Amino acid sequence: MEHLVISGKKPLVGKVDISGAKNAAVAIIPAALCVGKVHTIENLPKIEDVRKYIAVLEGMGAKCRFLDDHTLRVDATKVNSGIAMHENLKSMRASYYLIGALLGRFKKAVVPMPGGCNFGSRPIDQHFKGFEALGATVLQEHGAISVTADRLVGTKIYLDVASVGATINIMMAAIYAEGETILENCAKEPHIVDCANFLNMCGANIKGAGTGVLRITGVKASEMKDRDYTIIPDQIEAGTYMIASAITGGDVTVRRVIPKHMEALSAKLTEMGCKVISGDDWIKVQGTAELKSTTVTTLYYPGFPTDLQPQMTALLTQAEGTSYVTETVFENRFQYIDQLSRLGAKVKIEGRMAVIEGSARLTGAEVTATDLRAGACLVVAALAAEGCTVISNVNYIDRGYEKLEEKLTNLGASIRRINDGDPPLVAVEA
Ligand code: UD1
Repeated sequence: MEHLVISGKKPLVGKVDISGAKNAAVAIIPAALCVGKVHTIENLPKIEDVRKYIAVLEGMGAKCRFLDDHTLRVDATKVNSGIAMHENLKSMRASYYLIGALLGRFKKAVVPMPGGCNFGSRPIDQHFKGFEALGATVLQEHGAISVTADRLVGTKIYLDVASVGATINIMMAAIYAEGETILENCAKEPHIVDCANFLNMCGANIKGAGTGVLRITGVKASEMKDRDYTIIPDQIEAGTYMIASAITGGDVTVRRVIPKHMEALSAKLTEMGCKVISGDDWIKVQGTAELKSTTVTTLYYPGFPTDLQPQMTALLTQAEGTSYVTETVFENRFQYIDQLSRLGAKVKIEGRMAVIEGSARLTGAEVTATDLRAGACLVVAALAAEGCTVISNVNYIDRGYEKLEEKLTNLGASIRRINDGDPPLVAVEA
């Protein structure tokens, strides 16, 4: 098993280039399958979830070839079936996008139940509601989801929750549906816009991405075209480095970002006393020794992202006074607090709110990542902790952060990856 070993209390200083967005990549890869042509996808992050998704496409008969580290040539013309029972899909949340992609293209999708980070029940009833409204039949049995339709017909669909996954999934299924689909109360996250832009560039007719209402006019699959596309930067990776700069009293510039996507976090960091300056595609965060407490409520975009909630909670342990973090998106996303407490954080959970007593003295300990962003939270906290922290379950972190050790080392952090069989930690630290 691999572990990250971090020696904290070193201010991060320098510039870091942000990779392509994980959540856009894991939507655009299946979207390429839905289009069924030849595409060059640029700025793909080199992370586990992307690697797994590419293996799934190859298993289905697509030809995938990396032109360089971040540029993938996908030829999905030879894929001819809607059945995708690949082992990799069982450990990925975003495997559900294959349903919309395959249903759209083949009117049939058979995939395993989605896996991924476990923070609550994470139902996908709204996805199913959308597919059924378009005319499909949904069956769940023996751990698989089977969705089939004779024809898909556009209609009006109202989402009961503004789900990111349901919005993208129904959008993909609807691009070839007869007539117009109107999707109301949909999510507005940047990766939804990114996926819609890719599909539109290939010939789909989707209007309203980034607003609460999508209007999709069905087109013929035969009219879709080969197109090249560049994925947007990862707003959560960028936010994690911004918070890492703040917690270490550092001075970090995140480059290749879209500052507009970062507004909720930039505003909070400014409120806490950090200096945040942004340009066209960069943001500089200068920490302060006197971080102020604040309140944070997670919301759908453009609100404060739930995927930065754990990292933000780590930062608030270092602010003066009491801070309050309310999680409204997921029912159970404070599972990591026990691990954060092992580093010295003083946090009480009251229902969906974390009450964080500030100015905590963090000290290194052995901790375990319970999911992807929980892992990022522990990394951020470890950077501010005295002594050495050892983080297990690194595989979670690898799902979403490209070259984490390299990027943090370049900023001046002391971080190493070790294996169970490696020499004792003292030797690593020396
Ligand atoms: C996506 C992101 C994830 C992020 C989340 C919220 C991907 C691959 N993952 O996850 O990183 O944390 O958005 O920004 O892009 N819900 C239902 N029924 C449904 C669907 C969702 O009740 O059919 C509920 C969920 O339980 C949750 C809320 O809606 O409480 C938001 O979920 P959703 O936006 O769908 O998140 P994901 O797409 O799973």
